[in-house]
Amino acid sequence: MKLSPVIACLAAGLLTGGRAASQPASLPTLKSAFRHAFRVGAALNAPQFAEQNTQALNLITNQFNTISPENVLKWEPIHPAPDRFNFDEADQYVEFGRKYGMFIVGHNLIWQYQTPAWVFQDAKGGVITRDALLQRMHDHILAVVGRYKGRIGGWDVVNEALNDDGSLRQSHWMQIIGPDYLVKAYQWAHEADPTVELYYNDYSMENPEKRAGAVALIKTLQSNGVNLAAVGLQGHYKMDWPTPGQIDDTIDTFAALGVKVMITELDLDLLRPSNRTADLSQMDADAQNANDPYANGLPDSVQQELASRYAELFKVFLRHKGTITRVTFWGVGDGDSWLNRGRHNYPLLFDRHYQPKPAFDTVIALAH
Ligand code: G3I
Repeated sequence: MKLSPVIACLAAGLLTGGRAASQPASLPTLKSAFRHAFRVGAALNAPQFAEQNTQALNLITNQFNTISPENVLKWEPIHPAPDRFNFDEADQYVEFGRKYGMFIVGHNLIWQYQTPAWVFQDAKGGVITRDALLQRMHDHILAVVGRYKGRIGGWDVVNEALNDDGSLRQSHWMQIIGPDYLVKAYQWAHEADPTVELYYNDYSMENPEKRAGAVALIKTLQSNGVNLAAVGLQGHYKMDWPTPGQIDDTIDTFAALGVKVMITELDLDLLRPSNRTADLSQMDADAQNANDPYANGLPDSVQQELASRYAELFKVFLRHKGTITRVTFWGVGDGDSWLNRGRHNYPLLFDRHYQPKPAFDTVIALAH
């Protein structure tokens, strides 16, 4: 049979830069390689869970058994005005997870970012009272957690409540309500869905000062009767931070409090110096001041270093498989990552064409 030129080109991979758009059936999968250790997941954006990004679809459904929403469950998109909820994309996200039998994560209920200004204002544009803000928080949590009751398996209830020195961040939540906003948020999430898992999620807890703050926070929750299922280490890591020892210590510390540990937003930043945290204002300043050294691709030597670093991290995770319940990447392919921010970063296991990188092979090899 004679193939048309287009079909023939596709068959030869010529129209996809020599790469086939879908994965070979023989590609090993992260979810089955690590099935005896922990779930493996990815944060999805709207084109991915709406199944519009067909290139990513096979990869997502084959590789992962848990998903997180990169943005659509945050307050700003889901509750843009006092009397208006917009559940369309969040519903699609949850339906995607159900269709493919995945554990569905909720991210997040209370955060200092992506929360509209109106939340903290009264009708005249002044600062809202403590009681009124508590009422708003209550209503939001009941509405959102309640809607997905029995479908979302676990919620990041409060996200990033701590400063790097371990003190409580002076967010609007903290300034207007005071520190008890934390306990209330968890109590209301539990009220909305008594069986859903409740998580505390933050970055840089591998550093001892911030970790001490997290320990105090978790003990406060527990002493107020909150059944915290797990703490999420976001895992926005660098090539030289944190060390395996720091991660070991962090996981052991939280396990001793009787909670599980999840790696919730894993990626490896090749562009930012190690003294920078994952704070967004710092990231934007960095992006403006720095150049784009890998605009034309990643040198092979750096690709190999990335693979070794990923192997180092997964060795740590496997050592703690009794405590770690989930490892979730913050994005599917390198092109999706928040770490690009106008530059070319290479933080994940799959490249911009959703093809496995050498880091994928080293990680898979550890499981066997
Ligand atoms: O919502 C607007 C949309 O209306 C507009 O059309 C679009 C145009 O640029 O911007 C949209 O907002 C962007 C939003 O992502 C949704 O795409 C924001 O500008 C952008 O800053 C925002 O970035 C997100 C970031 O959180 C900030 O909240 C990233 O995608 C997301 O990956 C990142 O995720 C966080 C976790 O939730 C918590 N831990 C840190 C992690 C990385 O910062």
